[in-house]
Amino acid sequence: MTKDYLEAAIEIAQEAGKILREEFDRPPDIAYKGDADLVTQADKRSERAIVERLTKYFPDHGIVAEEGSGHEAKSEFRWHVDPLDGTTNFAHGYPCFSVSIALAQRDTLLAGVVFHPVYDELFTAARGEGATLNGKPIHVSKIETLATSLLCTGFPAHKRVASPNIHYYWEFTLRSHGVRRDGSAALDLAAVAAGRFDAFWEFGLNKWDVAAGILLIEEAGGKVTDFTGQPYQLGGPMILATNGLIHEETRQVAYEILQRDPAAPLRR
Ligand code: IPD
Ligand code: CA
Ligand code: CA
Repeated sequence: MTKDYLEAAIEIAQEAGKILREEFDRPPDIAYKGDADLVTQADKRSERAIVERLTKYFPDHGIVAEEGSGHEAKSEFRWHVDPLDGTTNFAHGYPCFSVSIALAQRDTLLAGVVFHPVYDELFTAARGEGATLNGKPIHVSKIETLATSLLCTGFPAHKRVASPNIHYYWEFTLRSHGVRRDGSAALDLAAVAAGRFDAFWEFGLNKWDVAAGILLIEEAGGKVTDFTGQPYQLGGPMILATNGLIHEETRQVAYEILQRDPAAPLRR
């Protein structure tokens, strides 16, 4: 059954990816949700296609989608949908964005897909069945120390002055091979699952940003917690996702910085 869910998610993510690819070739039609929080025609068209198809295939399931066209349901199955993760990149013509679709049964993630339509990279995971990139199994990296790692993070599009992340960015840049900031949390997590980055952290991400990526990392052998080491709860204020080997070392650095201002991640 999980396989059927995954197959549906793959089909739908590829369909949405086609829409994003089409829209990417046109001048962007941008509106603002906040001072630097953009939404485009592409976000809306992609979401409409995804929600329509999910509703057709799974009429009893709930859907939470970023642009608001999902619906609640009595079912314990719920889809988490980001129709375009990386809208700012998209709007500026920077080809780093994705579609992210995941299915959870209560708190358990069952299936997840992240699709990069420009590079044609399809990341998939089903619980207990591993993670793949374009059909081939993927695994997290074997890097064993923070000092030899390549990291990734992101910054929020709204309430940017309240974000504590610049302090973490500073510290981790000095303690690693470097910190990238690519602008699509779903792709950042997929890159950890594929062993391209060794760790990723960010604050204030929504469930639709991370649900598929978390399952990818877990199925690729990595680890996802908050900065205290507790399992990450979907929608929690901070996420740390690593290859597992550098988790404790990375977490301790993040926790040390957190202690300087423990309330900072909660200020929104
Ligand atoms: C954003 C991206 C970005 C992250 C932001 C998210 P959106 O999602 O994932 O990498 O840093 O916090 O809001 O708005 O492009 O779907
Ligand atoms: Ca997003
Ligand atoms: Ca989005």
